[in-house]
Amino acid sequence: MIQVNENRIFLLRQTIRKHEYLYYVKNDPQISDLEYDKLLEELIELEKKYPELVTPDSPTQRVSSDLSKSFPEIKHSSPMLSLSNSYNQNELLEFDRRVRENLPDAETIEYICELKIDGASISIRYRNGIYEKAVTRGDGTSGEDVTQNIKTIKSLPLKVNRIELNGETLQNFEVRGEIFLDLESFNKINELRLLNEEKLFANPRNSAAGTIKLHDSKIVAARNLQVFLYYLFTEEIAIVSQNENLKILDELGFKVNANYKLCKNINEVIEFCNEWEEKRDKLPYEIDGVVIKVNSKKQQEILGTIAKSPRWAIAYKFKAKQVETVLENITWQVGRTGAITPVAELKPILLAGSTISRATLHNYDEILRKDLRINDTVIIEKGGDVIPKVVSVVKEKRGENSNITLPPERCPECRSELIKTDEEVALYCGNYSCPAQVKGRIIHFASRGAMNIDGLGEALVNLFVEKGYLNSIYDIYLLNNHRDELIKIDRLGEKSISNLLASIENSKSRPFEKVLFAIGIRYVGLGAAQKLAEHFGSIDKLMAADTDAISSIYEIGPSISNSVIEFFSQQTNKDLIGKLKEAGLIFEKETNQGEMKFSGKNFIITGTLSSMSRDKAKDIIIANGGKVLSAISKNLTYVVVGENAGSKYDKALKLGLNIIDEEAFLKLTGIN
Ligand code: IVH
Repeated sequence: MIQVNENRIFLLRQTIRKHEYLYYVKNDPQISDLEYDKLLEELIELEKKYPELVTPDSPTQRVSSDLSKSFPEIKHSSPMLSLSNSYNQNELLEFDRRVRENLPDAETIEYICELKIDGASISIRYRNGIYEKAVTRGDGTSGEDVTQNIKTIKSLPLKVNRIELNGETLQNFEVRGEIFLDLESFNKINELRLLNEEKLFANPRNSAAGTIKLHDSKIVAARNLQVFLYYLFTEEIAIVSQNENLKILDELGFKVNANYKLCKNINEVIEFCNEWEEKRDKLPYEIDGVVIKVNSKKQQEILGTIAKSPRWAIAYKFKAKQVETVLENITWQVGRTGAITPVAELKPILLAGSTISRATLHNYDEILRKDLRINDTVIIEKGGDVIPKVVSVVKEKRGENSNITLPPERCPECRSELIKTDEEVALYCGNYSCPAQVKGRIIHFASRGAMNIDGLGEALVNLFVEKGYLNSIYDIYLLNNHRDELIKIDRLGEKSISNLLASIENSKSRPFEKVLFAIGIRYVGLGAAQKLAEHFGSIDKLMAADTDAISSIYEIGPSISNSVIEFFSQQTNKDLIGKLKEAGLIFEKETNQGEMKFSGKNFIITGTLSSMSRDKAKDIIIANGGKVLSAISKNLTYVVVGENAGSKYDKALKLGLNIIDEEAFLKLTGIN
């Protein structure tokens, strides 16, 4: 009896797999949804009866009932590289010239152009033809294990087609591609979030990246993530070109974006890029450019990789998208330092995949310079990662109802009179207790680059300020006393409060320079805070210093030093420091005894590192006694060059400085 059922289970799985493939990969369903549901239902019932026959590659196993608590870090078998960017025809010609220069004369070069899908990259391993593991890009060297969540993507085979090449079967390999949400699914998610009063996702890329990291794979399954694969690695067979690579992916049953083209020369590449820049809006998903790859694997190997980007590929990025809309109003926003900035309130409009209803205008001068008036028709622009901005007014469309705006005289939040300093265009609210400033200071203090208090984001800070739990940053360290009350607040609960209190406790070990940055002295960014911490060594010495002592530090100008002096001249701030000290925060630079590895050595980092952020690299250098400078000079011991290094790299070359890549840097630090 069990044999009969085993056969039936096997057959059902095969049939369901086939129809999932036809529906999700080929967009060519051959049975109705009802028929599909019936097959799946039958399989579920049989597997319930014979749980010993359930296998991980069964179509019933896409959604796991376990909630994943965390996403363990996994090292990539080979680094997940990124691409250098190009923005116009000349840069593409330049790329072609570089490729030719580095390949033997008279070699024919073909390029493959693929659409650059705007999503999140993923690496997926298959063992014995069966889905095994999915890992996010992370920092390129290692990423997070999101196996359960990626398994819910119906177009992704849990078991691949058996294919043979030169007598070998392809069973063990890794594929890489892009996870994304089509525009329809993205809009549906945001509509739902709007109903639930949740913060909207800015664009499909953010929502795809956020979805991958959800803890409940049932919710992931409902979001309708999709994946296009563009790369396959294996030791089992030799693949000679990117073209072949895409063909094999297709034969294995993966979803490959069909809009790719093998081009005979760079002119055909340019044509392809222009064509898709025109047509991009016709696609049901977002693309932000074209990826151009040298087709031949042999040539790719000769060209190699530099600073984590292959020399054999480049991204062509589309221009920022522009659209017209109406400037409905100009409102004024109060920042954490009291600076009042104008905000353009726009008639909501879809641009580059997201609905734009606001854009910052920096200061009143910008309003005058661009001659922006309420009710004007304006052009707004948004490039990939950038915040939307108002480019200009369409003067021909200006009507009778256009109105000029004057800067406010009172703070829009607390109604206190505003201060305008002579040397600046900015307006300030001088009331330190202004609720908008209080919220802004706390949000900044808790943010990742500052005290890194996980969970204490904008929404929670607003809530806690409104409920009276937080009036100053010091109150964060008193939240512990209100634990029982906090747990009772709607939507919070025991677990999230415990996590929050734990990260507040952890923040007490943040180093001095982060604390100095976090307390939010005007003009003191992370870089200035590092220099001040390095120079003075403790808050007491900094508080005792005069303007001259502070501005004598290299790259610390008068506006920073005046602002520091002004900050510590106020009794409320002195009291705050005293209380934070009592709470256990670090206000001294940790001094290591004796000579350290990088003592007396000066570094500069330019470009993007793949294994860590630039801030992390700086921390490592400083922790080892070295200094990080911000401008190219003869005083540099090392110039660390990452990907997309710009003019600093060229200057360093000219000066003949000691240039090292990321790998050499890691060796120096002892990490690698
Ligand atoms: S190739 C060396 N092909 O764009 C190979 N990337 O920095 C690097 N992307 O992280 C990737 N569509 O997430 C490649 N057809 C495509 C792509 C693509 C989107 C993403 C990928 C990568 C980023 C480029």
